[in-house]
Amino acid sequence: MNEPHPSATPAGPPIIELRAVSLDFDDKPILRRLNLRVERGQRMVIMGQSGAGKSTLLRLVLGILQPSAGTVLFDGAALNLASRRQMNAMRRRMGMVYQSSALISSLSVRDNLALPLEELTHKHHAEIDRIVEEKLALVGMEETGPLMPAELSGGMRKRVAIARALVMEPELLLFDEPTTGLDPVLAAVIDGLIIQLSERTHATSIIVTHELTSAFRVATRMAMLFHGRIVEEARPERFRTSSNPVVEQFIEGRTEGPIS
Ligand SMILES: Nc1ncnc2c1ncn2[C@@H]1O[C@H](COP(=O)(O)OP(=O)(O)OP(=O)(O)O)[C@@H](O)[C@H]1O
Ligand SMILES: [Mg+2]
Repeated sequence: MNEPHPSATPAGPPIIELRAVSLDFDDKPILRRLNLRVERGQRMVIMGQSGAGKSTLLRLVLGILQPSAGTVLFDGAALNLASRRQMNAMRRRMGMVYQSSALISSLSVRDNLALPLEELTHKHHAEIDRIVEEKLALVGMEETGPLMPAELSGGMRKRVAIARALVMEPELLLFDEPTTGLDPVLAAVIDGLIIQLSERTHATSIIVTHELTSAFRVATRMAMLFHGRIVEEARPERFRTSSNPVVEQFIEGRTEGPIS
């Protein structure tokens, strides 16, 4: 049992690899020679205390930030060596769901989803409409196209943000705190959606969260970010019983320990 099917063995380079990545903000080290590999098909949950650098790590993966040292590779290609054109091509293969949802408030739901397709592809209006409808249906938000973001609840906005991340059919989905601030039922719905999407589209997901219930629900791998490094990386069942003091403290929510 639990033996991976031969076809499930990852082929080729990891979709994301961070090699000895360091990042300083104003001489303050945030990441220090951090190593992490994310294989295709995984749902990698990255945990860590507030301010640990989780959102920063996602920005490095997106290529919005450049490391002070080290290399970020997407599908085996170093982001820092990519031309602007190559960088744009790589970004199209990634979808990002921001913590704040980050919908454009002056655009309808439909137009929020259509925007990347209009800007980055040569698809016709009818084709764009079809994709928008399809992605809204995937997140259970069909018929909300004409609504404005201000008319949506926080949970609905989150779903629309997920649908928007899907319009370019990305191979890699990045979620920054997808369930933080949602009620437990809605959090479970969003988690279910993340699992369903990754199974249906075979996309790889990196999910940043400090919600333990969500983390254990969605993860196929878990990593703990602490003092600028990944101090533990394992399957959820191994992670839960980790003897790493940082992981233990985080999971048990103890006030005493290495996390001050
Ligand atoms: N653009 C920036 N300029 C300067 N410092 C920054 C910048 N972005 C982030 N930081 C700092 O980097 C550190 C890590 O921030 P980051 O947002 O990655 O943390 P986080 O783990 O996502 O935290 P949270 O769980 O609260 O979202 C923080 O100390 C933050 O103040
Ligand atoms: Mg953050």
